[in-house]
Formats: sequence, structure tokens, C-alpha cells
Amino acid sequence: EKMATMESLIGLVNRIQRACTVLGDHGGEGMSLWEALPSVAVVGGQSSGKSSVLESVVGRDFLPRGSGIVTRRPLVLQLHKTEQGQAEYGEFLHAPRKRFNDFAAVRKEIQDETDRITGKSKHISNIPIHLSIYSPNVVNLTLIDLPGMTKVATEGQPETIVEDIDNMVRSYVEKPNCIILAISPANQDIATSDAIKLAREVDPSGERTFGVLTKLDLMDKGTNALDVLEGRSYRLQHPWVGIVNRSQADINKNVDMIAARRREQEYFESSPDYGHMANKMGSEYLAKLLSKHLETVIRQRIPSIIALINKTIDELEAELDRLGRPIGGESGAQLYTILEMCRAFDRVFKEHLDGGRPGG
Ligand code: GDP
Ligand code: NA
Ligand code: MG
Repeated sequence: EKMATMESLIGLVNRIQRACTVLGDHGGEGMSLWEALPSVAVVGGQSSGKSSVLESVVGRDFLPRGSGIVTRRPLVLQLHKTEQGQAEYGEFLHAPRKRFNDFAAVRKEIQDETDRITGKSKHISNIPIHLSIYSPNVVNLTLIDLPGMTKVATEGQPETIVEDIDNMVRSYVEKPNCIILAISPANQDIATSDAIKLAREVDPSGERTFGVLTKLDLMDKGTNALDVLEGRSYRLQHPWVGIVNRSQADINKNVDMIAARRREQEYFESSPDYGHMANKMGSEYLAKLLSKHLETVIRQRIPSIIALINKTIDELEAELDRLGRPIGGESGAQLYTILEMCRAFDRVFKEHLDGGRPGG
């Protein structure tokens, strides 16, 4: 039997996370399966370009973006790579069985669902929105978009908002399995970056932080970001990646993602400052870098993931015993499904652990 590819393994991890979410395991209390699995959180100051970077990594337009506090609830975004030729669609946990084929409708649903909890205020909520995107054009990844960190409450916001956002963002990035995508805009001094300040606190060695520098196109003429991008300003274990997202004018003109990515690549290739490093810049490169890192992390974690999966299997078995088998209804079916999934994962993971030797 052929060993599953690393890509399908990440896909499996994605599906466990989703199954856990459906069963109500949001990584809340104790050491949950969800927490054992790596995910990528996007952090940074308000309007630093977090949502834009996330969209570029996905290669699709679907997030509310703009000035001020647009992202007001955590968005847990799971990307599931599907077979070539399959239609792309999105699905929300709060609206299961409803397929969104139109990404403008996905954006509207995120906005509506945000408002449903927070009202049409500028308040934030800790309750995440879970969105899965199924597409042949994505890499298997779990990404979390978070509200931007701020320094002052603005009109209509509670005084505690600065601290509330800080606490929320921390609750994600403190977890040792969280990969931090630290977004800083190039048109501000890196020494004042909220993202780097936080990353330095929770990940001092920089081993799970990816530094992303946005808005390179908005720097003052005659200046460049080479000190940052070449790691002289702030050293991280992973290379810094420079990004040119769409400007607000581009968004208003509906410049599409493909055109934007092409333009971004052209920007780097034709730049006198960054031309020599153009193949290590841009959103597409960032997506590949993240996916590769995720592979490495998952590979290292396989033994502990197996242990947790087995614990989950035991707990599910006990739950099924308690309820008395066979259990009918939707919840019964759900428990059986996740149990089957866990057993399948257990087999696949063990295969990986044994380097693909059968029967090991
Ligand atoms: P967030 O608040 O951190 O999620 O930031 P958004 O992604 O919503 O972006 C805030 C604003 O900055 C939007 O109007 C974007 O179009 C703009 N923006 C983000 N990145 C760039 C960039 O690299 N270049 C330019 N010119 N504008 C950008
Ligand atoms: Na914003
Ligand atoms: Mg945002």
C-alpha cells in the first residue's frame, strides 16, 4: 500500500480539526486534540494588512477589508485542497450544508455573522467564526484572522477594547502549536510594530514566527526595507517575506486576485532594491513557505498526535457506551463518524511514523 503523501496528511489534520470543532472541541479547556494540531494565526496592528495577506495566501477574495476595525471576531479558516476540476466552495460551521459558491456571498456572510454577535457596533467578540474553503487551488492550511491590535479606543468602543483585543490575540499565539504570522507595514518603523512586540514576548527564539512586511509599495521614495527583509533589523529563525497587497483603490476598482499576484511578482522582479530576492518575496512564496513549515511541524508531532487521537478514541468509546449502543439520531451518527475518522487517522499516522512500512 502506498504511503499517503504529506499533503494528504496535512489534509487529514485539517479534517480532524474540523471534526473536533463540530463536536465542540475548540481547544478551550485542557489539552485537546485541536490544540495539539498546528494552525497559523495572523497578528498585527489595525490596518497593517492582515486580512489582505490571508486572502493572498488563499488566492481568493472573500474577506471584509478596509480601514478601521473590520475584523471583529476571530475567523478560523480551514483550507481543504480538493481534486483538480472540482468546483470551489465555502461552508460555515454556523450554517452547515449550505454551500457558498460565490465568494462575495462568503464575505457578506462573515459580515452578517459578525454583526449577529456584536451588533452593528465596533465591539469585538471572542466567539470565532469557522469557515472551510474547499478548492483545488489552495494548500491545506488552518489560518486564523484576528482583530488588529490598537492603542486607543475610538468613538463608540468600550474603554476595555485595547486590552480585550490584546487578550484575545494572546490566547491564540501563546499556544506552543500556534505558528505566528506577524504582519508589519513597511511604511511604519519596525521598532513600533505591534506584531513583532507580541511575537518577541510569546516566541522569544523566533522559531514559530514568520515576519511579513506589507505595504512595500507605500514606502517613502528613496527608502527601502532591505534591513528588515534581510534580517538585520530584527532577526527571526525564518526568513522575512515582503508583500505588496492590493491598495484600497485596487479593491474599489475590483482588481482581481490573479492580476494582483501577477502585479506583485512584477513589482519585485523589476525592483532595483528587491530584484535579487524576487523569488523569495510575495504571497505565493509565503503560502508555500507556510505549507512546508506546517509539514515539518506535523511530522515532528506525529507521535503526540497519535497519542491524543487514541485518547480521543477511548473517550468516544466511553461516551458511546454511556449512551448505550447503537445510538440513533444525528449526534450518534456524528460520534460514529469521528470515531471512524480517528481510527483512519491513527492508521495513516502510524504508517508515517514507521516510514511507510506496512504492518508496523
Ligand atoms: P487589517 O486591518 O490588518 O486586516 O488590514 P486590511 O487587510 O483590511 O488592509 C487595510 C487597508 O490597507 C486596506 O485598504 C488595504 O487595501 C490596504 N493595504 C493592505 N496591504 C497593502 C499593501 O501591501 N499595499 C497597499 N498599497 N495597500 C495595502
Ligand atoms: Na482593517
Ligand atoms: Mg482584518
